Amino acid sequence: MKVLVVGGGGREHALCWKLAQSNKVYKIYCAPGNGGIGEVAENVNIAANDIEALLDFALKEGIDLTIVGPEEPLVLGIVDRFQEKGLKIFGANKKAAQLEGSKSFSKSFMEKYYVPTARYRSYDDYNLAVKDLDDFKYPLVVKADGLCLGKGVVICQTKEEAEAVLKEFLVDKIFGSQGCRVVIEEYLDGIEASLLCFVSQGKLIPMESAKDYKKIYEGDEGPNTGGVGCYSPSPLFTPDLKEKIDRKVIKNIIQGMEEEGLFYSGILFIGLMIVNNEPYVLEFNVRFGDPETEVLMPRLESDLVDLIEKSLDGSIEFEDLKWKDEACLTVVATSEGYPAKYQKGFKITGLDQLDKDIVVFHNGTKYEDDNLVTAGGRVISVTSLGSSLEEAREKIYKNIQKIDFKGIYYRKDIGK
Ligand code: AMP
Ligand code: GLY
Repeated sequence: MKVLVVGGGGREHALCWKLAQSNKVYKIYCAPGNGGIGEVAENVNIAANDIEALLDFALKEGIDLTIVGPEEPLVLGIVDRFQEKGLKIFGANKKAAQLEGSKSFSKSFMEKYYVPTARYRSYDDYNLAVKDLDDFKYPLVVKADGLCLGKGVVICQTKEEAEAVLKEFLVDKIFGSQGCRVVIEEYLDGIEASLLCFVSQGKLIPMESAKDYKKIYEGDEGPNTGGVGCYSPSPLFTPDLKEKIDRKVIKNIIQGMEEEGLFYSGILFIGLMIVNNEPYVLEFNVRFGDPETEVLMPRLESDLVDLIEKSLDGSIEFEDLKWKDEACLTVVATSEGYPAKYQKGFKITGLDQLDKDIVVFHNGTKYEDDNLVTAGGRVISVTSLGSSLEEAREKIYKNIQKIDFKGIYYRKDIGK
């Protein structure tokens, strides 16, 4: 079949890399793709949020299956639009995408269906929000309601800081309409874990766990990023914790989705905070994670197209997901300055010097006159399987030193 992957980051590279191993697939397109994706798929010069152009392309090319990477097209309704035209597409529809697209929607969903989460309130009025700050302890968390490219969540240590953030969001409107409503919630002190699930018309089938590193600096210091390192599985996921997640989180989400009519075939990414061995949901995403996908795809033994087709026709079962016992780890090399301002266009060298078992997924690269150059804040995810996390980690850090571009930065403590 002919497959179209929408997006152009490390997540989409890992998806295309995995799809290319399926004997059901003879052609992969990726829109817009990137330098590395071009090695396993054909890059198509259409932006991931240009739904009408993607639709035209899929119809003209006779695409058999479309897989959506990023949240923005999902929230904009790409799935509904493709389905109207009779096209097969894997992802959340517009209604269900609110689970990611609106924090107040997802928090009230969690509250209504007893999904454990931080205590919260939501506001669209600055004065009311400030007045209620005294009901929370510090630190507390202020979240813009909508999609803000990962910049809409601020952990505030003092009331002054919280007031300043509320003013930025609700009065100065730095995120425009995406920040016109905010959620204030209690701070949870624990360890984060990512649990991605296949969603299939009322079923929720968890994949293996992953641990994402969100902070830019070693020791989890500095500002939040999209994720600069990741490994799978997370050692926190003991049988006891899995049972609790199943009973307190998954079952309640399934019930909520059913009662709210949130039916789709795609992904639900549950962002968890584990506090004293108890799971709390921080957020939902309705898509594959990045860099979680870069460590899950190498561990996945099953054919990805098979799983997606079964998710679309409702026949997928937990047993269909087969995983390698090996651990997988990835370290993301970033451009100097990320997640704030950074420069692009620097030549990347050394990728041809890496050991054979290292896989490099490209987050932000492109070709310029035959040279591979940097084209994003996150540049490449250097990835390896290993019989243990430690082994995978050693392989990566031995190899990543061979890679160079101006301003290259990566954390040295991923998986430590
Ligand atoms: P979110 O987009 O809601 O997942 O928030 C982004 C990041 O902010 C999370 O991955 C956490 O690192 C942090 N965060 C969000 N909510 C909380 C919370 N209630 N307590 C502690 N940290 C949080
Ligand atoms: N790595 C977190 C995310 O994909 O949102």
